[in-house]
Amino acid sequence: MKPEKIFVTGAAGQIGSELVPALREKYGKDNVIALYHHNVPKDAGKHIIGDAGDKALMEKIIKENDITVVYHLVGILSAKGEQNPDLAYNVNMGTLKTILDIAKDRKNAGKPIKIFWPSSIAAFGPTTPRDKTPQKTILEPATMYGVTKVAGELLVNYYFKKFGLDIRGLRYPGIISWKTPPGGGTTDYAVEIFYGALKEKKYTSFLKAGTYLPMMYMDDAVRATIELMEADPSKISIRTSYNITAISFAPEEIAAEIKKHIPEFSISYKDDFRQQIADSWPKSIDDSSARKDWAWKHTYGLAEMTSDMLKNLGPMLK
Ligand code: SER
Repeated sequence: MKPEKIFVTGAAGQIGSELVPALREKYGKDNVIALYHHNVPKDAGKHIIGDAGDKALMEKIIKENDITVVYHLVGILSAKGEQNPDLAYNVNMGTLKTILDIAKDRKNAGKPIKIFWPSSIAAFGPTTPRDKTPQKTILEPATMYGVTKVAGELLVNYYFKKFGLDIRGLRYPGIISWKTPPGGGTTDYAVEIFYGALKEKKYTSFLKAGTYLPMMYMDDAVRATIELMEADPSKISIRTSYNITAISFAPEEIAAEIKKHIPEFSISYKDDFRQQIADSWPKSIDDSSARKDWAWKHTYGLAEMTSDMLKNLGPMLK
């Protein structure tokens, strides 16, 4: 069987920068092309610099490389999106529509492409039940980022039903990782806190104590993404995007866990506009559909994640 030819947009982002190496490891380094917009890392490997909204360029890359799988990760996150809603709308919706339309044309030409697209807990809003949020529930987000996630979910489901495209998605919770610095999200306090702990032994949280949010360690997120994409299509019963989660915690709980490793560490609180965003999102998620359909299972709890973060981020900050 010919190897998959994979194209990843948003390769410099939080998920891209860890998914690309994982895909290269699994499918071979020459079979994964990364798209960078401007931040090209030193060890970029096979890559192209360009804009995911440039349809002619996207078409050229996909055709010339006979791409069979696209991970379309380009996106402006929640907090940055509230500061520039037009940018969030244009980037998040525009690039998705571009990729879907190219995939539709390729399918008609007998060259189907499988697509991964990330949704988020931001698809939920203040009217959604916040505890163990169900898969099928009210989707009335209060951020532009969330609006693009709901619209995107409906769009990918439409292209699946109408044009038979194999598109799969996850509603990621907050993702915690050490390879890239935090980049414009509301859940990013749970990444920043490690920088504060390691550099200054203190951190001022922009979310209040008691703000519970669903979270996941990057290793689990990368594995979930690849497992979803490898699942037999007959197992995929949800084409909008799957609820998925690992752990839920509040700032004081992650602070207490960090304190077990760095006893001098202290947390203080000064909430800002991101509090309102967090208050509109679930505290915990019901991801039983993902667990049932394609056997999703997380491995990192709060304790494992905290010690792994400190172990990996520590040397990077020296
Ligand atoms: N981590 C994202 C954010 O906070 C949620 O999808 O914007």
